[in-house]
Amino acid sequence: MSRWLLPALALWAVSGGDALPACNYPPRLWCSSWKIAVACQVEKQCPNLHHRAPAANPVSLSLYYESLCPGCAGFLVVQLFPTWVMLRDIMNITLVPYGNAAEKNVSGKWQFDCQHGQEECLGNMIETCLMNQLRDVDQYFPVIFCMESGSSVVDNLAACLKIYAPDTKLADIQACVTGDVGNKLMHQNAQLTAALDPPHKYVPWILVNGKHTDTLQARAQSALFQLVCELYTGEKPDACKDKAILQKTENLCLN
Ligand SMILES: *[C@@H]1O[C@H](CO)[C@@H](O)[C@H](O)[C@H]1NC(C)=O
Ligand SMILES: *[C@@H]1O[C@H](CO)[C@@H](O)[C@H](O)[C@H]1NC(C)=O
Repeated sequence: MSRWLLPALALWAVSGGDALPACNYPPRLWCSSWKIAVACQVEKQCPNLHHRAPAANPVSLSLYYESLCPGCAGFLVVQLFPTWVMLRDIMNITLVPYGNAAEKNVSGKWQFDCQHGQEECLGNMIETCLMNQLRDVDQYFPVIFCMESGSSVVDNLAACLKIYAPDTKLADIQACVTGDVGNKLMHQNAQLTAALDPPHKYVPWILVNGKHTDTLQARAQSALFQLVCELYTGEKPDACKDKAILQKTENLCLN
């Protein structure tokens, strides 16, 4: 088991568990968001959900990363995924797997070189194809989290699909990975990464509300949950007011 998995699961348990639309939340959180209320079938018992002020813009977080970089997996598994499980109603997540890769045009088809070798290129491609195929972050993020949690990102695909996206055919993902669709999508990731301003100097490279600064990067890596709660300008969700969660997330560190 990866060293990231245990702390992530510990935090995950605090949030009440599962990313799937099942009611695995403690009763005190049932009315904290529309999605949880629906999953727990208590919408009618949560009148405050209908009277909330118009939602503010979600806090957007973009992660430029590489599938096999340990620091990237650490951030994704320990900070980003658990925070998203608790705050997904107020977050907008963009994942761009490419990082320090390079590309060249070989007779009309893109060839990629990755910092951690061809296996990393394959991992980047699988994750990109998952996003393209599953479309909805609620569908693909748990699969990517599962892949990044284990000891082999690439080998985990089949098992992670079975658990988190059982309706998705492995063959469809493989067709994207080896075909023109994946090739074009990875080229888009290359362009998105090249367009970063300021340009990225390392991975994981984090943008908060479209901006990268040393301070935002450091805060996202050490206490993303608090950062998102703080930056959200709408009415704070109940999870942001929960002292137990805040303390747990403050004590996480990346090593
Ligand atoms: C989420 O972010 C993407 C770009 O990163 C943007 O295109 C989209 O409009 C945002 N969605 C919301 C609801 O803000
Ligand atoms: C890639 O190379 C092919 C020929 O080798 C060329 O026709 C095409 O325009 C090139 N594409 C780009 C984006 O440079």
